[in-house]
Amino acid sequence: MTTQIRSLEEYHKVYAHSVANPEAFWDEQARTFQWRKPWRETLRWNFREPKIKWFVGGKLNITENCLDRHLETRGKQVAMIWEPNDLKRKARKITYKQLHGLVCQFANALKAQGVKKGDRVCIYMPMTPELSIAVLACARIGAIHSVVFAGFSAVSVSDRIKDAQCSIVITSDFNSRGPKNIPVKQVIDEALAMGCDSVRNVIVHQNTGDALKMTEGRDLWWHDVVKGKRKSCKATAVDSEDELFILYTSGSTGKPKGVVHTQGGYMVYCEYTFRNVFQIQEGDVYWCTADVGWITGHSYIIYGPLLAGATALMFEGIPTYPDAGRFWDVIQRHKVSIFYTAPTAIRALMAAGDQWVKGRRMPSLRILGTVGEPINDEAWHWYNEKIGKKRCPIVDTWWQTETGGMMISPLAGITPLKPCLATLPLPGVQPCLVDANGHEIEGNDVEGMLCIKFPWPSIIRTTYGDHERCRQTYFATFKDKYFTGDGARRDVDGYYRIIGRVDDVINVSGHRIGTAEVEDAINKAPMVVESAVVGFPHDIKGQGIYAYVITSVPIADVAAFKKGVLDTVTKEIGPIAKPDVVQIVPGLPKTRSGKIMRRILRKIAEGDTSNLGDTTTLLNPEVVDEIKASRLVG
Ligand code: PRX
Repeated sequence: MTTQIRSLEEYHKVYAHSVANPEAFWDEQARTFQWRKPWRETLRWNFREPKIKWFVGGKLNITENCLDRHLETRGKQVAMIWEPNDLKRKARKITYKQLHGLVCQFANALKAQGVKKGDRVCIYMPMTPELSIAVLACARIGAIHSVVFAGFSAVSVSDRIKDAQCSIVITSDFNSRGPKNIPVKQVIDEALAMGCDSVRNVIVHQNTGDALKMTEGRDLWWHDVVKGKRKSCKATAVDSEDELFILYTSGSTGKPKGVVHTQGGYMVYCEYTFRNVFQIQEGDVYWCTADVGWITGHSYIIYGPLLAGATALMFEGIPTYPDAGRFWDVIQRHKVSIFYTAPTAIRALMAAGDQWVKGRRMPSLRILGTVGEPINDEAWHWYNEKIGKKRCPIVDTWWQTETGGMMISPLAGITPLKPCLATLPLPGVQPCLVDANGHEIEGNDVEGMLCIKFPWPSIIRTTYGDHERCRQTYFATFKDKYFTGDGARRDVDGYYRIIGRVDDVINVSGHRIGTAEVEDAINKAPMVVESAVVGFPHDIKGQGIYAYVITSVPIADVAAFKKGVLDTVTKEIGPIAKPDVVQIVPGLPKTRSGKIMRRILRKIAEGDTSNLGDTTTLLNPEVVDEIKASRLVG
C-alpha cells in the first residue's frame, strides 16, 4: 500500500519532497506494489515530443495488484457491491476471491477466442459487474480495453472501434436504466454494419434476458464462452509502458481522440490518489456514481478501489429512479461511508426537493466528493448541509481523462476547505497559471490558464494512432508545459478554483462535448447549411448546448425542423449531445478570415447582449443584430 498522509503538516512536507525530488517520491510509492521485474529508471521524459516513461523496464500486471495480492488478507472481503437499477432484483456482493475467479475465467475465455497481448477490445456495456470483469480480464492478458460509454450512438461506437481496430466487442443484451430497457446489443449490430472489419466476434452478456437476435458465427453468449473455463489464469507480465487502455474524449477540434494510459504509472498514481484523497480506512464502503464509460469510472470505480483493497459499490441505475431519493436510499441500505458524485447530480436532486432526503438516516457517511465540473455555491452548501450534515468534508477533485487520476483536490479531513475550491495540488503535481503570451503568472490572487509543469505517473502518453495530435493538443500551446484547457484562479492562500474550459469544449452534466463534433452532427441534419455551437449556463447541467443554425430554405414547420436536428445529433453522437436550444439564424458572425466569432455567440446565448465588444471588424456585422432579434422570438 502506498503511504497515506495523516495531517496538514505532513501534506506540506510530502508535497515539498515530491517537487524537490519527484523520482525518489514516486519510487517509494511504486515499491509498495507487486512487480514481476523492478524498473531500471524511474522517469525519462520530455514535453517536447512528448515522450514520457515511468518505471522504465519494470514488468507487472495490474490485476495481480488489484486482486491476487489481496487474496490472502482480503479474500473474503467484499470487493464489489452491485446495486441493480430494478429494485425487484437483488443486490450482488462479490468478494475479492470471487472476483479473482470471475476475472480469471473470463480472461481464459478471451484467450480461447484468440485475444492476445496488445489486441484492442471494445467494451460497450451497462453498469453491471460483468463490465468490471471484462475490463479486468483484458488487463489480465495484456489486451488493451477501450470502454465506450453505453449511451453513445452506433455511429460513435463504430468510429471508436475503427480507430482502435478492435478485434472483439463485449456488450450486453439490454441496459436497464430507470424505467427504460435500452437495446445495447442492437446498437452494436448497427455499428458493425458500418464496416468495422477488424471485429471478429461479439461477446454478449445476458443482463435482462430479453429476446435478442444473435448473428451466427460472430455473436457469442458470455455464459457460453466461460463454460468449462478455469477460474485461475496466470497473469501476463507487461511492460510499465505497455498500453493499458484507450479512452475516447472530446476536444476542440475534430472527432474524439483516444487517450492512451499505460500500465505502471497509471497503477501507482490511481492507488495513491484514491487512498490519500479519500483517506481510506478499513471497513469503508465507497461509492462513486460515475459510469465506467468515463475516466472517473475507470480510475475510481474499478482500478483505484481494487488496488487499495477497498469495498466499492457499483450502481446500475439513475439518481431519480424510482424516485429522487434513490441515492440516499442506497447510502442508507449499504452503509456507504464515502460518496463521490458530480455537481450536476447534486443540483438535480436539490431541485427535486428536500423531502427526498428527510427521514433518511445516513450516519455511515464520512466523506463526500465531487468531480467533473465546477460546483456552484448553492449546490456545495446543500450537499454539505443536507447530505453531509456539516460533518463530512467535501473533496472537490479536479482532474481530466488525460491526467488519469485526481490532480488538485483536498485530502479529506486534512486540507482546510473553502466551498467550491479544488484547493491544493496533490503530491507530485506541479500546476501553474499562464497568461495568453505563455508567461507563467507568479504569486497569489491571480487568474490564468492552468498548466502542469512536470510529469506525474498517469499523464497521457499519446492519442491512439496519432501522436502528433497529442503534441498539438496538450504540449504545443505552451512550451514545456502540459496545457489542461481549463482556466483557473489561485486565491490569496494559494488555493485553486477551476473556472472552466477556455477552449471549444462544453461541459454538459459533467460530460465533455466538443463544439466542433456537435456542429458536424448538426450539419448532417436535413436543410442545414451551417451551424455554430456554444455553451450557456444551465441550472442543472452546468452548461447547456446552444446551436445557431443556418438553413437552406425558409422553415415553415420549425418544431419539425428542430426535431430533425435533435434526432440527427442523437444518431451521430448520442442523446447527451442534444442541443438545449436551436436557433435558426440568417448568418453567423465571421471575421474577415472566415472564422466564426464564438465570443459574440456565447454572449447572445447567455442573454447578455448589452456589451458584445467590437463587432466592426466582422465581415458581416449586420448579422449580429439579426441574431439578437430572432433570439427574442425563439
Ligand atoms: O473542465 C474540467 C472539468 O472537466 C474536464 C475534464 O473532463 P473529463 O476528461 O471528462 O474528466 C472528468 C472527470 C475527471 C476538466 O478539464 N472538471 C473536472 N473536474 C472538475 C472540473 N471542473 C471544475 N472542478 C472540478 N472538480
